[in-house]
Amino acid sequence: MKTKLEAIKNAAMEEIKTINTPAAMEEFRVKYLGKKGELTAILKMMGSLTPEERPIMGQLANEVRSAIDALITEKSADIKNAEKIKKMKEETLDITLPGVKKEIGKLHPINTVLDDMIDIFQSMGFDVVDGPEVETDRYNFELLNVPADHPARDMQDTFYLAENLLLRTQTSATQIRTMEQRKPPIRMICPGRVFRADEVDATHSPVFHQVEGLVVDEGITMCDLKGVLEQFAHEIYGPETKVKFRPSFFPFTEPSVEVDVSCSECGGKGCRVCKGSGWIEILGAGMVHPKVLAGCGIDPEKYSGFAFGIGLDRLTTTRYKISDIRLLFENDKRFLKQF
Ligand code: DAH
Repeated sequence: MKTKLEAIKNAAMEEIKTINTPAAMEEFRVKYLGKKGELTAILKMMGSLTPEERPIMGQLANEVRSAIDALITEKSADIKNAEKIKKMKEETLDITLPGVKKEIGKLHPINTVLDDMIDIFQSMGFDVVDGPEVETDRYNFELLNVPADHPARDMQDTFYLAENLLLRTQTSATQIRTMEQRKPPIRMICPGRVFRADEVDATHSPVFHQVEGLVVDEGITMCDLKGVLEQFAHEIYGPETKVKFRPSFFPFTEPSVEVDVSCSECGGKGCRVCKGSGWIEILGAGMVHPKVLAGCGIDPEKYSGFAFGIGLDRLTTTRYKISDIRLLFENDKRFLKQF
């Protein structure tokens, strides 16, 4: 019996070396330690031993069982470990492979300049309003003191959509909408796209951008207009910039002015950017015509105001020294990437 027990132990120790899957491991356990296993079969024969032999054999059998148990535990751990390593190898990432580069978008230069303008005017107490691009004749012209037969209509070649419907030629239309909806004091700017049937060239586009401004309150004078617009020009172009107010004409303002700033490229000596004049025209402005106030239900005896319309594209091309306005609208990424 002793020899048999030793033989079982030796056989188990040999066989375990060939085992390398959990299934084979289980088969092995059943074969040696299971109810119908080899060790159990021997233990069943204990009854035929003498009372003296029994405890000795019993102890030996237990030792063999423990030894096989230990073999199983150790080998099971090895198998598990090997499987884990295999799995990790299969799942390795090659972190040296270059990744896919994400393209990062940027603001269009027009938006960068507009954001700056909004900051400047908001700090002076203006709020930002929006208006429709499709307008009625009434808001775009009539209520701005440009009746149907007024020669000033020739200044703005208009895209008509229907009898009284058009693409706005100026953001000034939002002045009217604002005055109809709100009571003074009013301090607003309205940035937006405007449309004119102009031939396309380096300085003209059928679509361009304006920033309208309107201030209405008691006691507003030309001084307020000059102060606000001078401050604006200095913040956009720098404090050394000279600002010039030239008399002009707009039907919805009286008096009317146009505002030039000294050329930031040449400092006023004359260059390609200012076409040799030393000055760059950036906006039209004026005191709101009493007829316009009255047309919107605001008493011109009590209130006065000033308005302005800034050419956003001109501001952008001069700031970034862009020679052709068409570049702003073509959306060529090679151009836009430079800003
Ligand atoms: N709307 C004018 C234009 O497109 C610009 C302008 C001039 C706007 C004077 C104003 C203003 O608000 O007061 O040419």
